[in-house]
Order: sequence, then structure tokens, then C-alpha cells
Amino acid sequence: MRTPIIAGNWKMNMNPEQTAEFVKAVKDSLPASSKVEAVIGAPAVDLPALLENAKGSELKVAAENCYFEDEGAFTGETSPKVLKEMGVDYVIIGHSERREYFHETDEDINKKAHAIFKNGLLPIICCGESLETREAGKAEEWVEGQVTAALKGLSADQVASLVIAYEPIWAIGTGKTASSDQAEEICAVVRKTVAKLYDQTVADKVRIQYGGSVKPANVKELMAKENIDGGLVGGASLVPDSYLKLVNYQD
Ligand code: G3H
Repeated sequence: MRTPIIAGNWKMNMNPEQTAEFVKAVKDSLPASSKVEAVIGAPAVDLPALLENAKGSELKVAAENCYFEDEGAFTGETSPKVLKEMGVDYVIIGHSERREYFHETDEDINKKAHAIFKNGLLPIICCGESLETREAGKAEEWVEGQVTAALKGLSADQVASLVIAYEPIWAIGTGKTASSDQAEEICAVVRKTVAKLYDQTVADKVRIQYGGSVKPANVKELMAKENIDGGLVGGASLVPDSYLKLVNYQD
């Protein structure tokens, strides 16, 4: 009943020309969005090229970040209101790289989630533990805490419509994928947390992605898990052929 969602997260890679070439290479081979939602998260500077070239295709577009105010004196920030006007669908928030390098707090992420909904967009909210936290046996409580903080004050309907990406920091860009059992274990914790905060109906609707070294070779095994509804993919989403294998994993 939950539509799978595979989202590329290009991070700070690609320029507008490369973006246009990429979309031209994939746009006619994407799955129907009712079967698998195929999303690309691109840097703000590439969004016009991504949106323009994706027009009329099944591709959905995500920004990699936004601010929590719509406008004003916030030099260098991206307005969620303008992202909506441009035609963006999703905004990735709370990625571990943003938490670590740009000092984003749980409170910032929660404010961004509210601003994203206010503007008619949907958030992809990232969470995930460090290796140190995992080795201390605290991964579950860490992720539960992040999810609880991110969702604060959101309505049941809003939570049912959003996406949560579980990305263990130790598996990002390292080639070390969490085993499908490890990924499933924490994705189940995410769903249980939503059930605890809201109810089982909301928890059954929320889509949960796994992220961290997802590639064509492991996507099927991960997607077969009960609580994994999608992937948030960095490196393997940068090459058209590999991106197409990911979004067409059911074929
Ligand atoms: O948002 C995506 C993740 O950070 C995963 O990146 O697939 O390169 O490990 P990766």
C-alpha cells in the first residue's frame, strides 16, 4: 500500500549542463510514479535545469535543503516558498552532512519541516546514528530521539504523507552498507516511533527509506524488507545507468 520511493541525493556534485544530460538520459526509462516514485535531489543551482528537463516525465524533484523562513534578510539561504513556485516536490532535511558540517539542530529541522508543509512541499527527513553511538548500543534511542524532535507539532495527516530516511552515518559514502537486517531493524524503530507519537494508521502510511551505500547490487534485498519503502542514494545516483537500475529494481 506504500508506494516505494527511490531518491537520488546528488549532494554538491553536478552542474546544470550535467544535470540536463542526466535527465535526458533517464527520463524515458523511469517507472510509472504510481509503481515507484523516482526522485532526484539536486543542489539549488541545478534545480532550474532539473525541473526544465524533467517536465512531462515521471521524475520528481527534491531540493537538498531549505530555510525555515519564506523570505527576508537571510543571506545565502533558500526559500521553501520559492522552491514551491519553481515546481519542486520534496525537500531533504536533516541530512547528517548538514547536521555535522553546518551545525543544524533538531530544532532547526523541525522548523524546516513546518515551513515545508506550510508551502505545500513534502519533507524527506533524515536521521541516523554515528558508529560511536551504534557501538555504545544506543542507535535505537538516538534515532527515536531524532524522529521525535523532527516531527514535533506536525499533524497526523502531515506525518502520514512525509518520508523519513534512515541513514547510519557509518554507512554513508563508505561502501559499508548496513546489512539489510540492520537497516530493517532501525527502520522498524522509526515506524514504531511514529506509531507511539501518533497511531498505527499513521505509522503504516509513512514511507521510510534506507540510505548508506545503496547500489544496484543491494537495492532489491533492502527493498524486500517489511519496513523499508525506499532508498536515499548518494554516489550510485550520479550515473544514469545505475540510477535507472535503482528505480527499476522491480523489473
Ligand atoms: O543521502 C544519501 C546518503 O548520504 C548516502 O550516500 O549512497 O553515497 O552512501 P551514499
